Amino acid sequence: MWLLLALLALAASRPLARAESHWCYEIQAKSALSPCSGPDQWGDYCQKDRQSPINIVTRKAKVDQNLGPFSFSGYDKKRKWEVKNSGHSVMVLLEDEATIAGGGLASQYQAKQLHLHWSKVMDAGSEHSLDGDRFAMEMHIVHEKEQGTSRNKKEDQDSEDEIAVLAFLVEAGSKNEGFQPLVEALSDVSRPKMTTKMKKNISLSDLLPEEEKLRRYFRYLGSLTTPDCEEKVVWTVFEETIQLQEEQILAFSEKLYYDNDNGQTLKMTDNIRPPQRLGQRQVFRSQAPGRLLSLPLPALLAPTLTCLIAGFLR
Ligand SMILES: *[C@@H]1O[C@H](CO)[C@@H](O)[C@H](O)[C@H]1NC(C)=O
Ligand SMILES: [Zn+2]
Repeated sequence: MWLLLALLALAASRPLARAESHWCYEIQAKSALSPCSGPDQWGDYCQKDRQSPINIVTRKAKVDQNLGPFSFSGYDKKRKWEVKNSGHSVMVLLEDEATIAGGGLASQYQAKQLHLHWSKVMDAGSEHSLDGDRFAMEMHIVHEKEQGTSRNKKEDQDSEDEIAVLAFLVEAGSKNEGFQPLVEALSDVSRPKMTTKMKKNISLSDLLPEEEKLRRYFRYLGSLTTPDCEEKVVWTVFEETIQLQEEQILAFSEKLYYDNDNGQTLKMTDNIRPPQRLGQRQVFRSQAPGRLLSLPLPALLAPTLTCLIAGFLR
């Protein structure tokens, strides 16, 4: 049995080592600056059938009563976060300072890092899409399950929800002051492996929509969207978008590069994996107050009163 497991592990790790050094996005594979494997050729688990991202067909998402609000802790801690060019994205290292619970998750999860995906085109930079619509960017806050906090007794290292990613879709809009310290750090991490610290303290909440607006979200089980594409991610895609000014969005494509400066310069953009087949999976949505209920009371009463008064005067 152990021998079999060891052999399986070996078989699984072999292509991983090969793909890890060479995987790249479509735009890099096409550029022919250096040979690399685009998404069609990613190895490991990437060709399996519970992959991410997906297109979410909103009318097919099934309401799940268990998908309540999240509780965020440490999301208000102000820090000068470390920022890094990972060669595939820009990453903010979250130093175990924040956790999430609730949101229909089976345990508490610790925030490890956040990173983004983007394009120069305002409707082509997100990995997930809603009814076929893509957005300017997508931010992923990656959390790992905390051992010993699981609500069910069986702690399984290889479980399908080992990682919880909170995905936020980004649209062009008004200037986002919360994001500015990250945008300003980009020019200090233009090449892979470069790191810097933000010049100003910000909290995770500074990057997000207000907490009350985060009750509506989609949920499904999938994978990491980069090799090795392990199928161990419980995905949350929020309906409420983040707004960034177009200039702030374009700064990502302008300031960052995929390659080190050895005569090659491919700007980091379109770092997105194409949508994957949903297959047999079901997408769920949170049961959230409808639009009507979220209106303030006077907004509901005013038309009623107007009708009454109009009737009375007539
Ligand atoms: C600002 O960030 C630094 C470094 O991350 C931290 O030590 C300090 O406590 C923060 N200041 C505030 C006001 O939160
Ligand atoms: Zn991502």
